[in-house]
Amino acid sequence: MTTWSKTSWQNFTALQQPKWPDQKEYEQTVEEISKLPPLVFAGEIRALKRQLAMVAEGKAFLLQGGDCAEVFNMCTAPAIREFLKVILQMTVILGYAGGKPVVKVGRIAGQYAKPRSSDTEMVNGVELSSYRGDMVNGIEPTPEARRPDPKRMLKGYYLACSTMNIVRAFTRGGFAALDRVHAWNNEFVKNSPQGQLYEKLARNIDNAINFMKVVGLDTDNIPQLQQASFFTSHEALLLGYEQALTRQDSTTGGWYDCSAHMLWIGDRTRQLDSAHLEFFRGVLNPIGMKVGPKHDIEELKQIINKLNPDNEAGRLTLITRFGAEKIGDHLPNLAREMKKEGFNLVWSCDPMHGNTYTAETGYKTRNFDNILQEIRSFFEIHWAAGTVPGGVHFEMTGENVTECTGGGRNILDEHLVKNYLTNCDPRLNAEQSLELAFQISEMIRG
Ligand code: PEP
Ligand code: CO
Repeated sequence: MTTWSKTSWQNFTALQQPKWPDQKEYEQTVEEISKLPPLVFAGEIRALKRQLAMVAEGKAFLLQGGDCAEVFNMCTAPAIREFLKVILQMTVILGYAGGKPVVKVGRIAGQYAKPRSSDTEMVNGVELSSYRGDMVNGIEPTPEARRPDPKRMLKGYYLACSTMNIVRAFTRGGFAALDRVHAWNNEFVKNSPQGQLYEKLARNIDNAINFMKVVGLDTDNIPQLQQASFFTSHEALLLGYEQALTRQDSTTGGWYDCSAHMLWIGDRTRQLDSAHLEFFRGVLNPIGMKVGPKHDIEELKQIINKLNPDNEAGRLTLITRFGAEKIGDHLPNLAREMKKEGFNLVWSCDPMHGNTYTAETGYKTRNFDNILQEIRSFFEIHWAAGTVPGGVHFEMTGENVTECTGGGRNILDEHLVKNYLTNCDPRLNAEQSLELAFQISEMIRG
């Protein structure tokens, strides 16, 4: 293999990159970002890798989730707080009821670039360039808005910094302390059956903490009770942006992509000879890789050897996204083959991207039962194969949206119009997310 550098990907074909109209302006922007501070530190990235190594062994559970596409004008404290509340609630449910520590990773603070199946789309009879995420172009259906603008990468960097800052404040500054477990129950959810179930669980946690106080433990000074460890991730699609944030760690000399703790490679850009793979083989972050129905097992083996030649646990997470109907055709063989190779892997289930359909009303949606069914099959297939069902990967929000059908409130196709806000794929709302967490906690216990 040739020598790796943070720019060596440029000698390979990079799919899904915007056609920046002004190459010089693009290069200057990448240069500018490369001088700005990193978003995360190498030590934090290594901490996540250690936690993921526990997931690979079945000693912890990975919960990864957030927007399909983060939106610049939703970078607000309330939106981020509501999202964190749901993640924290799910953590409590999965951890308390499921009985395993939960590794929390957000699709947040940089999930601004999207791969698209088509370069253009028709809007009211006009052909427009596709929306590729707020870091590339605007979603408004006009030729001007859809023109890729590298300055958006810079804005994305600053908004990712703001997001990171408030996330750190929320998770470290007392908001995530376990004695606030009731405060995470969101107004919208509180009176629902899920909210009530959650309240019950929260009371048990209160009792446990009170008991610790009774026996003399100083719970105010136990960091595990006062803070939550929370990590960030996004699909590392725009390689110029990722390159700009790739830094050499001064303590170990290793290269880390400091745009987020964990990065993943999408199902559309993970070819063996792709620029994305070249970039990722050289950075030491934990890497996720999406795997959909169109994979080739032999190619996957080569990809895995390239990304993780030392077979380090925690380095690689395979995020499968087959759909409820197809998972049974693909995952049993995949799990068996990977096990035969002796690969150390985290297996995670993305039950969203293989279950998308267009409702009669024209909205792109996903049904709760299909999502749940794919997760159930994921657990059963891994148990049968002797591999570890390690985690889940959701598109979700703390907002009271109507984007996915079904769930406790039985959202129907005709309800989608009420509060359909996503810029890209449909997300679970807070109540649907909690409902899934309760179901999954039972699966974790086996
Ligand atoms: C995504 O996670 O939003 C996505 C585009 O996924 P995939 O690469 O699996 O299609
Ligand atoms: Co998506």
